[in-house]
Amino acid sequence: MATLEDPIKIGGVTVPNRLYRAPLLECAGNGPDAVDTLIDDLEPAAESGVGLICQGATIVRGEGGCAAPGMTRVHDPDFVARLSRLTDRIHDHGSRIFIQLEHGGLRSMETWHAEYRTEHPGLEQLAVSEPPWQLRLLDRIGFLEYDPHVLSTAEVYDLAADFGRAAARAVDAGYDGIHLAGANMGIVQQFLSPFYNRRDDEFGGSPEARLTFLAVVHDEIRERAGDVPLVTKVPAETPAPPAPIVRRNLSLADGIEIARRLERIGYDAVVPVQTSVTWDMSIVRGAYPERAWENGALQDAYDAAFGGATRRRLVALANRVQSLQYDFEPAWNEEFCRRVREQVSIPVLAEGGIRGREEMDRLLDSSGNETPACDMVGLARPFYAEPRLGARLLEVEPDGDGPRVVCESCNNCTVPQVTGAPGICRTPNVLQKRGELERAGAYERSDR
Ligand SMILES: Cc1cc2nc3c(=O)[nH]c(=O)nc-3n(C[C@H](O)[C@H](O)[C@H](O)COP(=O)(O)O)c2cc1C
Ligand code: SF4
Repeated sequence: MATLEDPIKIGGVTVPNRLYRAPLLECAGNGPDAVDTLIDDLEPAAESGVGLICQGATIVRGEGGCAAPGMTRVHDPDFVARLSRLTDRIHDHGSRIFIQLEHGGLRSMETWHAEYRTEHPGLEQLAVSEPPWQLRLLDRIGFLEYDPHVLSTAEVYDLAADFGRAAARAVDAGYDGIHLAGANMGIVQQFLSPFYNRRDDEFGGSPEARLTFLAVVHDEIRERAGDVPLVTKVPAETPAPPAPIVRRNLSLADGIEIARRLERIGYDAVVPVQTSVTWDMSIVRGAYPERAWENGALQDAYDAAFGGATRRRLVALANRVQSLQYDFEPAWNEEFCRRVREQVSIPVLAEGGIRGREEMDRLLDSSGNETPACDMVGLARPFYAEPRLGARLLEVEPDGDGPRVVCESCNNCTVPQVTGAPGICRTPNVLQKRGELERAGAYERSDR
């Protein structure tokens, strides 16, 4: 039976154990402090023994395409070369680091961020097809602003080449693998999902054709970056509130089929994730972040982002409605991961609501009748709450239910990021618990 402490191979790279830090926005930008910010954010997890660190989404182009303020861009070779300081620090602790590549497409700040749009009036959004009517309606009533540029066939190939170029720079900078943001409502998912993709060239028209973008990105990465491990998130879509206006477009069966085809194309691992087609809480299930919305110090910045107090209140209301549909559910991608794992022989990485060591052992367990759900387990928000969480989860003596994270999935860390605020835990009682654990030496590694 595989345990959390066992090594695993992804492509040609051995990861020292099966715990990973799932990608989380670092909001590090590209300024003079960017590399230090990334080191501060990511090194503690490596120091605590986490086998694989997945850096949050980075944008393959120099203009447009950021889903949130402060996202790091990886178009500039000089900047990416400087990231070798980060990869060296992660390697010093024996861990591996993958970089996530992304472009927001229709889910970019130039659609929703009022202040950003004013500052960049000429920006269009890259679109797979004309936005669906539900999004055009939101544009008409002033919630979003679309000025889409539908990619020509040649432009789709150019975009895929930019993923390849970014991957090559990343490998030169010491990254051990490339991760694609395939299930975050960004451009990869926009190619996969019939909600967005109504193209009639080789990139649309059938499930197989909708996968062509990922096939071309694979080929570009292989040609430019060699045999580097290549991983992508794989979506299965939920209906988005208010369903049935936005219905499910990719079922679990569709997601499983996408994963099977990705293995055939040459992907080295997959991360099955249930998501929706719009920007909601489907990928960050948990509570309505009351404290974050009521944070007095952030009201002006929220208004700048959403375009005034009325729209801020409407977005908060939509967030409250979403929290009813997407209440926290332990390991909510477990079933999807298990069904994918039954169909593929590449590693399956599971994330989403995994909160305790006992649960991790169960997901990895191959001793029973059921197929294990996954080959690696990942956590995201719990690393905001406890940056050195690995030390508490790894190499622990079996003891009752085993350690559990202190993160309460309250989502107070998520909303402030629309203002460019850093990704940190913002819930005082959780931070207090972390302080107590720190004082008790819980984050010291027993093997050091
Ligand atoms: C603030 C925040 C930022 C995130 N940024 C990314 C990202 O850049 N790329 C990505 O693939 N997923 C991103 N995610 C999703 C996480 O990787 C993860 O799938 C999700 O948070 C569920 O895991 P958890 O319950 O352990 O937090 C983000 C999640 C949060 C809360
Ligand atoms: S604010 Fe803290 S406790 Fe709440 S979800 Fe974020 S990391 Fe977890």
